Amino acid sequence: MTHSVHRRTAALTAVALAGLLAAAVPSTAATTTAAAPSAATSPAALAAPDIPLANVKAHLGDLQSIASANGGNRAHGRTGYKASIDHVKAKLDAAGFTTTVQQFTSSGATGYNLIADWPGGDTNRVLMAGAHLDSVTSGPGINDNGSGSAGVLETALAVSRAQLNPDKHLRFAWWGAEELGLVGSKYYVNNLPSAERSKISGYLNFDMIGSPNPGYFVYDDDPTIEKTFKDYFAGIGVPTEIETEGDGRSDHASFKNVGIPVGGLFTGASRTKSSAQAQKWGGTAGQAFDRCYHSSCDSASNINDTALDRNSDAIAHAIWTLSAGTTVPPGDVYENANNVSIPDNGAAVTSSVTVSGRTGNAPAALAVGVDIKHTWRGDLVIDLLAPDGTAYRLKNSSGSDSADNVITTYTVNASGESANGTWQLKVQDVAAQDTGFIDSWKLTF
Ligand code: TRP
Ligand code: ZN
Ligand code: CA
Repeated sequence: MTHSVHRRTAALTAVALAGLLAAAVPSTAATTTAAAPSAATSPAALAAPDIPLANVKAHLGDLQSIASANGGNRAHGRTGYKASIDHVKAKLDAAGFTTTVQQFTSSGATGYNLIADWPGGDTNRVLMAGAHLDSVTSGPGINDNGSGSAGVLETALAVSRAQLNPDKHLRFAWWGAEELGLVGSKYYVNNLPSAERSKISGYLNFDMIGSPNPGYFVYDDDPTIEKTFKDYFAGIGVPTEIETEGDGRSDHASFKNVGIPVGGLFTGASRTKSSAQAQKWGGTAGQAFDRCYHSSCDSASNINDTALDRNSDAIAHAIWTLSAGTTVPPGDVYENANNVSIPDNGAAVTSSVTVSGRTGNAPAALAVGVDIKHTWRGDLVIDLLAPDGTAYRLKNSSGSDSADNVITTYTVNASGESANGTWQLKVQDVAAQDTGFIDSWKLTF
């Protein structure tokens, strides 16, 4: 589009009005989505990734296959248990975890805990998350507790994909012989030297998180951990209740008993869903949260996908938030001060900034400082391009915006973009006559 001096002084045309309205949209122009999840409570925390439900379900499919190939269960002392341990361990080894299999004896059979440490972080402040991997002998144990095992596994793999470098040291665990009385987790805690115990700043437990008629229960233990989970569910508009179906009936009790802060999530076992609960969560009132609890029908079909998905995302949210940290302190500036001339009414030009050495994603409030000298800034359309090419519109053109220069800071929700890579400022002059140049621009992480 060209325009003339005449048009510049004309009253608002429809086109110009449209431009003005567009320009009046808040400048945080995210291209796509959607309700930004509440930024983490700690300013240093990066946003957790969405945990892909399909990946969690694939782990459950693997555990079901293992049970089917081993007499229909994955119970302590049975071949299906050791096969489960080997399977999970192989995934973690391939993802860069340091894994340890801890053996113990219970009821005359060898049991196994699997511990996976993510290298890095402050080993004096360890954040742990765990799930029991054993089933009862009567069934394959897919909700109890393939669900927690798979959610924790996929979160650990997401840590690896993000190459997260948290302030705290991360440790994931899969416990043996929970169904015999929390045997594996007790063994682990009892065999930790007290100096090591005191370094564990929190233990998060996930036992049954995909119940087919689900409730959303949060353990009422450590207040910080509890709040972290509640904040997550509040952010997605899902009401929660305090877990009361048996405090002390899972592996977090082993940690709580020695004074380690604990928390966790649960979607219900044999207790019945009330009508009030069915009203707020859906599902069937008067029916157990899990009618297949400890039964042969606790198979791959005994899972509510929505509950599994939400709880898996909540695990990741808690791990990211409670381990809050970046390798590089926030406030780092990446700038390109080379001038780039912007052709009049011509093709778009770009200026690049390369970000490296960071971990995870860009901030939810990425500051984009722009300094463009121009004699009629209404000519300019400005986008920020993420390393993957995603465009974030910073400014539209406007026939009526006759001021000089664009010297301002835009805020972009870039939490869906990995921080590292080449970011570009893309500027196009879409109307004839006035011209200018990119003087400098910068990103503040
Ligand atoms: N841990 C129990 C099991 O594996 C299930 C269970 C009952 C539970 N009540 C709980 C788990 C409360 C977590 C929280 O059979
Ligand atoms: Zn059980
Ligand atoms: Ca121009």
